[in-house]
Amino acid sequence: MEILEEIKNTDSLEKLEELRVGLFGKKGSLAAEFARLKDIPPAEKKEFAANLNEKKALLQNALDERFEFLKSAQMEQKLKSEYIDVSLYNRLTKNGALHPVMETMEKIIDYFVALNFSIEDGPMVEDDFHNFEALNLPKHHPARDMQDTFYFNDGSLLRTHTSPVQIRTMMQSKPPIRIIAPGSVFRRDYDLTHTPMFHQVEGLVVDDKGKISFANLKHILTDFLQHMFGEVDVRFRPSFFPFTEPSAEVDISCVFCKGDGCRVCSHTGWLEVLGCGIVDPNVFKAVGYKDVSGYAFGLGVERFAMLMHAIPDLRSLFEGDNRLLEQFR
Ligand code: PHE
Repeated sequence: MEILEEIKNTDSLEKLEELRVGLFGKKGSLAAEFARLKDIPPAEKKEFAANLNEKKALLQNALDERFEFLKSAQMEQKLKSEYIDVSLYNRLTKNGALHPVMETMEKIIDYFVALNFSIEDGPMVEDDFHNFEALNLPKHHPARDMQDTFYFNDGSLLRTHTSPVQIRTMMQSKPPIRIIAPGSVFRRDYDLTHTPMFHQVEGLVVDDKGKISFANLKHILTDFLQHMFGEVDVRFRPSFFPFTEPSAEVDISCVFCKGDGCRVCSHTGWLEVLGCGIVDPNVFKAVGYKDVSGYAFGLGVERFAMLMHAIPDLRSLFEGDNRLLEQFR
């Protein structure tokens, strides 16, 4: 049958469908042949019908076979054109990460938040009262030289420490107080270990008279420093701050030489890491507090980050150099 050949050679599903309609459609050639059945003499009818049915089955078979073939060929074509090479290299995206200073800050904050300290904030542009006066640093007091200050023409200034947040918190609320105040501070200083902007975390605890002692301060700071630096020795050295009395500077045994003496600790075996003390009565007077006791401490976050990560030059933390930052991802 010629038509069988034609079906076998059809090269598209559309053409195959045309052939199918031409054969099996309502007006198709098979329908026409079946219509002839009624004119066939009864003696031949049976054979004619049998032939016709056989032909119909043959054609149907051929159409089905060709349909399957073309369909799978089409699928193969599609798979080929939509092929994805999963072994190709990805265009790698870079993950960001916290800056070492922020990461250190978060670690510090986490420690104190777990002990129920709340976090306080204050303005970076301060006034003389909050940054100095109320902290027992009257005008012309020589201790003001401890901090080289950036002043604006109107007398306001960039806060030189986070201690003004102590004053703002105490003036806004009543004891008991248990806060930390993380933030940026500013001083006119620039060398290996000083930048004009750096970060501090301030701590302040105030409660009724007699409730807060130096022992409490010593205990919490020792535990805090061992949490941050691991198994280090902690030493409290008498010192001076206008806003605390008595005051201390706190050292840890050198994390680089384990106390033997090296360049980083200037061969002393110790590294100074924070300042602290019992809140001076003059500070409580300035904020109108009576019959209370408290301790305060302040630390430099960059210094912590440098010691924790053995970063030799403080300034490298602020240069935005990815080669440095990528080491902390
Ligand atoms: N404010 C002090 C400084 O910046 C640190 C400090 C805070 C010391 C609280 C004692 C108590 O150097």
